[in-house]
Amino acid sequence: MDNGVRPLIAGNWKMNGTSVSLQQIGRLQMLLGEAGEVRADILVCPPATLIERAVRMAEATPVRFGGQDCHAEASGAYTGDTSATMLADAGASFVILGHSERRAGHGEESALVKAKAEAAMAAGLVPIVCVGETEAQRDQGIAPDVVERQVRESIPGEAGGQSLVIAYEPVWAIGTGKSARTEDIAEMHAHIRRVLEDMLGESGAGVRILYGGSVKPDNAGEVLRTPNVNGALVGGASLHADDFFSIILAC
Ligand code: 13P
Repeated sequence: MDNGVRPLIAGNWKMNGTSVSLQQIGRLQMLLGEAGEVRADILVCPPATLIERAVRMAEATPVRFGGQDCHAEASGAYTGDTSATMLADAGASFVILGHSERRAGHGEESALVKAKAEAAMAAGLVPIVCVGETEAQRDQGIAPDVVERQVRESIPGEAGGQSLVIAYEPVWAIGTGKSARTEDIAEMHAHIRRVLEDMLGESGAGVRILYGGSVKPDNAGEVLRTPNVNGALVGGASLHADDFFSIILAC
């Protein structure tokens, strides 16, 4: 965290959470209230069904909410999908796009991720574009090339600064308890920063690059102190307000 950008700690609840989980938002609000000022922006991406209620609950707090995916069109005959416009209407400010669980599980290619990111920006949302290599790609030594290609092909040309967030999430580190080594995180984040600056010029320097993949209270400090790491995208540990709060405090 050395480029003067305020960090973002984002929780991705994935397909977890029903009404009862809103208690975690309440608990987070309480912990934040007790702590006073914190050094990070805070975002929770619950399932779409909870966004509106979560937004209402946390109105008087700095916590922001986001979606986990959106359609590239604003409306239409797309049964089961949710548009960026709808997420914004529910009170979301961000949307996670191109998560590896969507790239792998739903066959999403970077061109589609880019179209979704454009739709998100048009709706006033900040896209969090996820990139990351598989274990096999890392073993083959092609991780930087894979990630660079994902970045180049997934982000809209007019993005930059605070209107875009990148999340580097090595696929093999997600939900495995096996976080990447800080040297590897530093190397990949520096590479992503160079690609962003090459694509976006000066505004590439202000884009927050989050690390995701088994970030927990006990490794968050080390991860967040790594150069060019501007926050974290947290899965499992974001489901528990106390763990998520510990990660926020590690900034
Ligand atoms: P875990 O923190 O559970 O490894 O998940 C990371 C992730 O996929 C966040 O988007």
